[in-house]
Amino acid sequence: MPWPPAADPHEPPSFPLLVNPYETDRLLAEYLLFHYGTAAEVLPPNSPQGMGAAVDFAVRTVGHFTAGPVVRALDLGCAVGRSSYELGLTSQQVLGIDFSQNFVRAAQGIGAGPVRYIRQDEGHLRTQMTANLPPGLEGKQVSFEAGDAMNLRSDLGAFDRVHAANLLCRLSEPLKLLQRLPELVKPGGELVLATPCTWLEEYTPPDNWPPGGTLEWLKLNLEPSFELLRQGDEPFLIRETARKYQWTRSQVSVWRRKSG
Ligand SMILES: C[S@@+](CC[C@H](N)C(=O)[O-])C[C@H]1O[C@@H](n2cnc3c(N)ncnc32)[C@H](O)[C@@H]1O
Repeated sequence: MPWPPAADPHEPPSFPLLVNPYETDRLLAEYLLFHYGTAAEVLPPNSPQGMGAAVDFAVRTVGHFTAGPVVRALDLGCAVGRSSYELGLTSQQVLGIDFSQNFVRAAQGIGAGPVRYIRQDEGHLRTQMTANLPPGLEGKQVSFEAGDAMNLRSDLGAFDRVHAANLLCRLSEPLKLLQRLPELVKPGGELVLATPCTWLEEYTPPDNWPPGGTLEWLKLNLEPSFELLRQGDEPFLIRETARKYQWTRSQVSVWRRKSG
């Protein structure tokens, strides 16, 4: 067996990660299906009642912003880009940033045309799939770049909307992002954070986990600059094979940047 062994994206190796799971083709395919798959492509036949409510997570988290058009939006940890394109429905300019070059390439590719990928069904059974931008979504005002949410470039400027879904508990130093957020959101602008609170030492040293509940920790760190407008939960479904799914519930909080 070669050493180090190839990473199994579902069993992350011990910290620090030798291989970034989000650069693997396996997670790329799972995320293309997660973001762009139709209910028929994602769900099993005769799916249990309620399972369908967990599809289209990227559409639902963006739906937590207060309705109306804005100028600039930022999507941190955008993965393969569905939420960035959704933000483009109401934002004149959208920037999606992700640490995975492989994900960023796919996010850009989808704006230009269909992207082909392989869906794992079981063992040697696989299905050739195509990810498309759903009707009504366009790429022209949406751009992507690779970047680190804990060390973003200094010239990003401020945005009317900042969206970060399922990112915080994948950062080694999440406080660095929380500390940068006041500068990234314009006064009166909105921030949507979604997190399943799956703190794992493979990604985040335990000393950097919230000491108690994640929402309390967010309040402690954000409330000097942000007002908590509302909170809720959004379930999501990641299909690993035809018979194995991850069902998770993300905690969503919506914040408004205070003036001054
Ligand atoms: C659990 S996935 C969530 C992706 C997407 N927002 C969603 O909800 O489907 C975490 C994402 O964060 C990205 N990521 C991890 N560390 C990052 C960092 N330091 N800066 C930016 N993105 C990062 C990963 O590449 C991956 O795309």
